[in-house]
Amino acid sequence: MYYLLTKAGRFLEMQQVKLMMKYGLKSYQPDPFGFVTSAADIDRDPEGTHKKWLLIKEELPAEPYTALDLGCNIGYFSFLMALNKADHVVGMELERGPVLVAEKLKTLGRVGNVGFLNATITDKNVDLLGEYDVILFLSVFHHLVHSGGMDAAKYVLSALINKSRNALYFETGQGDQGFGKMAGSMPKIAKEDALDYCTDLLMECGAGSIQLLGETSLKNSASRLLFKAKKRQE
Ligand SMILES: C[S@@+](CC[C@H](N)C(=O)[O-])C[C@H]1O[C@@H](n2cnc3c(N)ncnc32)[C@H](O)[C@@H]1O
Repeated sequence: MYYLLTKAGRFLEMQQVKLMMKYGLKSYQPDPFGFVTSAADIDRDPEGTHKKWLLIKEELPAEPYTALDLGCNIGYFSFLMALNKADHVVGMELERGPVLVAEKLKTLGRVGNVGFLNATITDKNVDLLGEYDVILFLSVFHHLVHSGGMDAAKYVLSALINKSRNALYFETGQGDQGFGKMAGSMPKIAKEDALDYCTDLLMECGAGSIQLLGETSLKNSASRLLFKAKKRQE
């Protein structure tokens, strides 16, 4: 009886996630388990997200590490880190819908060492966060510029770099890419200037070493640069 009820519960949860992803939420990421998403339901080219993961995975510590995935969406990277040597991972996300999906995927994927928090990080609360070995801050900076202005976004980036014991991974939207009001809040950075712009930004916010890991696709032939930054040693 218990077994049957569990099986029925999983089936219902799977249907619930499918419906949420198809009709409620246009998620930014595919689900990492391949349970529910078809490329048509996803806001960013899933190949770009997959490539981003492969680039990051190469760089992750070999020994167990702690990780924060800020702006985790439905938890694509949080889950994959949890399944790739992380001791534990915290995913934080401002929107309730993606967090609900992430929670369901956690149950369906049977992943224990990841937790999701429906939270909005700003310059007013970022100092309350703890330190993590690995911090992902991927395509969230421009959201902060939109909601709080450039200075507030830089404050958050500086605090996160400072809280990353091993490395912070960074990618941002750019004003020239024409993807709505979030990226539109950023300066218009020509493609050939993106490397210098992001390098200067990371240096200004406390990075001591910066590595360009690659470029990954977004949609409509646009792409974003992916960086690994280590904090400046005093
Ligand atoms: C463009 S998506 C990027 C998702 C993911 N990091 C990735 O690269 O695939 C930005 C995500 O960050 C979330 N977000 C934006 N501002 C945030 C904030 N201040 N605190 C937490 N999450 C935020 C958005 O709701 C959205 O899910």
